[in-house]
Amino acid sequence: MYYRKCGHSGIKLPVLSLGLWHNFGDVDPFDVATEMMLKAFDSGICHFDLANNYGPSPGSAEVNFGRILKQHLSSHRDEMFISSKAGHDMWQGVYGTGSSRKNIIASCDQSLKRTGLDYFDIFYSHVYDGETPVEETMQALIDLVRQGKALYVGISKYPADKQQQAYDILREAHVPCLLSQYRCSLFDPKAQQENFQIAADNGSGIICFSPLAQGLLTDKYLNGIPEGSRAARESGFLKREQVTAKRVEAAGKLNEIAKSRNQSLAQMALAWVLNDNRVSSCIIGTSSLAQLTGNLDTLKNLEFSAEETNSINQIINNPELYF
Ligand SMILES: NC(=O)c1ccc[n+]([C@@H]2O[C@H](COP(=O)([O-])OP(=O)(O)OC[C@H]3O[C@@H](n4cnc5c(N)ncnc54)[C@H](OP(=O)(O)O)[C@@H]3O)[C@@H](O)[C@H]2O)c1
Repeated sequence: MYYRKCGHSGIKLPVLSLGLWHNFGDVDPFDVATEMMLKAFDSGICHFDLANNYGPSPGSAEVNFGRILKQHLSSHRDEMFISSKAGHDMWQGVYGTGSSRKNIIASCDQSLKRTGLDYFDIFYSHVYDGETPVEETMQALIDLVRQGKALYVGISKYPADKQQQAYDILREAHVPCLLSQYRCSLFDPKAQQENFQIAADNGSGIICFSPLAQGLLTDKYLNGIPEGSRAARESGFLKREQVTAKRVEAAGKLNEIAKSRNQSLAQMALAWVLNDNRVSSCIIGTSSLAQLTGNLDTLKNLEFSAEETNSINQIINNPELYF
């Protein structure tokens, strides 16, 4: 495993982190979840990314993570960097969603209970909700640090103007933003263009999610939508209609370039995200041990020649692929 520094901080993260958005809920096989988490940790993936609502059912990924941790890894807590987030729909009633102080503080308390942890290494505002003043959300994060419930704080998916405002407030309180989390893949260059430099200029590390566009940037959908895949599952966030002919065609062409690099398309797509040296880590999701093992082999080839970069750019420079 390789480790990269997070912005202007003393923290290093593995270039690949494991996310528990899918595949760790109470609809998923617990034995597979266990073997993936243990394999990840044994391979140097010491960063695990959670959120209050991951499941389904919402909260169950945190419960399962806590069970696995307690059973197998509790003596390794100080070797791990564990995140959670609040901001998306979680519980019923008007306070169960959004980025208010009420939601953030209650969510963190609930997430600590579900995981059985004493503190999170980083707690994020999961989303700018469009109405809560950024001052209120950031003050809630700052207070979580002061209360010892989180060591660091981060923001996720903040639009550029709110992103800058968040950094300014956090810096002034001496709780600087450790990580900014954005979606980024060969099919999604938006954050790279709009948010990465702001983060880098403010000393925040950058961590990318959905680097495989939820599976579209693998060879899995090249010949249709396989049974059991995220697009086929009722609980999956990837919808059948998002597996468009244009995206599949582009994935087919990218797959040929990957083959010429002796990589799978998944490996090349991960290497592409990591090729931006502003990025500290990318968070992968896997539904099997084989996927995890295969994705770890990305580290064998992270370089791109000018010719490869040029050929890839020609394929992905197409807004119809963006997603
Ligand atoms: N901050 C936020 O708002 C936010 C939003 C989304 C995600 N995240 C974080 O980012 C993490 C990763 O997101 P993601 O799960 O969308 O990441 P992703 O890596 O783009 O997609 C993961 C999915 O791709 C498929 N896959 C992975 N490796 C494969 C391989 N080698 N061959 C074939 N298929 C493969 C699997 O789907 P199948 O089930 O089809 O096998 C897997 O579940 C999440 O768990 C979460 O922690 C954060």
